[in-house]
Amino acid sequence: MVRPASRGCVYLALLTLFAPPASQHTLRDAADHAHLLFGTAVRAQRLSEAAYASTLAREFNLLEPEDAMKWETLRPDPKSFDFSQADRIVDFAIAHGMKVRGHTLVWHRQNPPWLAEGHYTPAQLAEILEKHIKTVVRHYRGRVFAWDVINEALDEPVLGSLRSTLWYDQPGIGSAQKGTAYIERCFRWAHEADPEALLFYNEAEAETMNPKSDAVYAMVQDFRRRGVPLDGVGLEMHISNLHPDMASISANIGRFTALGVQVHITELDVSLAVGANGDPTPEDLRLQAEVYRQIATACLSHPGCTAIQTWGFTDKYSWIGSHSRGKQGAALPFDRDYFPKPAYEALRGALEQSKGH
Ligand code: XIL
Repeated sequence: MVRPASRGCVYLALLTLFAPPASQHTLRDAADHAHLLFGTAVRAQRLSEAAYASTLAREFNLLEPEDAMKWETLRPDPKSFDFSQADRIVDFAIAHGMKVRGHTLVWHRQNPPWLAEGHYTPAQLAEILEKHIKTVVRHYRGRVFAWDVINEALDEPVLGSLRSTLWYDQPGIGSAQKGTAYIERCFRWAHEADPEALLFYNEAEAETMNPKSDAVYAMVQDFRRRGVPLDGVGLEMHISNLHPDMASISANIGRFTALGVQVHITELDVSLAVGANGDPTPEDLRLQAEVYRQIATACLSHPGCTAIQTWGFTDKYSWIGSHSRGKQGAALPFDRDYFPKPAYEALRGALEQSKGH
């Protein structure tokens, strides 16, 4: 699709704003053809913007709330649950025939002050967490098909060791210093609440073969052997290196799927250096497209890699800007005006070339 030369060209813009891109097939068509779930992270407050909602429904068959299912949104106080934003997103998905991934039941970030600074005992925290997991998973039973049960539990000081958090050992839920035992308890609670839901462990910087992905691998292997209800691994895939080690990424996806679990690429974005006007160079846009294409191809080459999600879809709304203090941006397949970028064409091309998944 050719972007109109002038932003002032109102007539052309109006004509193209709500229409599919020039090629007859959308990304969603290509994903359906490839038998792949292709989704994106969604912000409830943007659904009332026509271009946002129409692009989302047209291009994706899967979505995930970007922040609306995190504790700080769901849990305004210790006694209540506020599902309003998350429900809006889930209702949108159902109305448009899309599947929903839930994100995330347990994380060390975006927790409300009453929880993070509540000075609860391990026994109290265990009760609070079990109730949270079961209430949220039951609320969405039959509507959320897969959950990120635990997010980013591994980190330094030794890369790949368990991160010291409220849930693990600060003070934890009663399984401090017992390795992955606290994670296991969370998976069991989620499974009790919805035995049909697929349960994922989601992690950052574990996309290549490295000490962190080794630690995830050891945990998944152990859980599978002992029958802990874990169905998949989420690899976030926030990329800023325009020449990622694709052989290592592909081998890593392969070793997880060989354990019999699914892999979802959960938070794909490819951030670029941007100038003061927020624009990247044309060469970087080309390299970015190539990275998107390679990631999609790597997933499609493993039958157990069953979903890809981008972390947002338009450069108008992306966490990268604030995360990088404005130095990086332009990370997503659609530009700020919802026009498809080279990355979009690359993704769709990779999916269209797939022999079926
Ligand atoms: C980010 C959201 O995109 C932002 O809106 C929010 O302010 C901070 O969190 N890893 C994750 C996501 O698992 O939940 C994070 O999302 C990005 C990093």
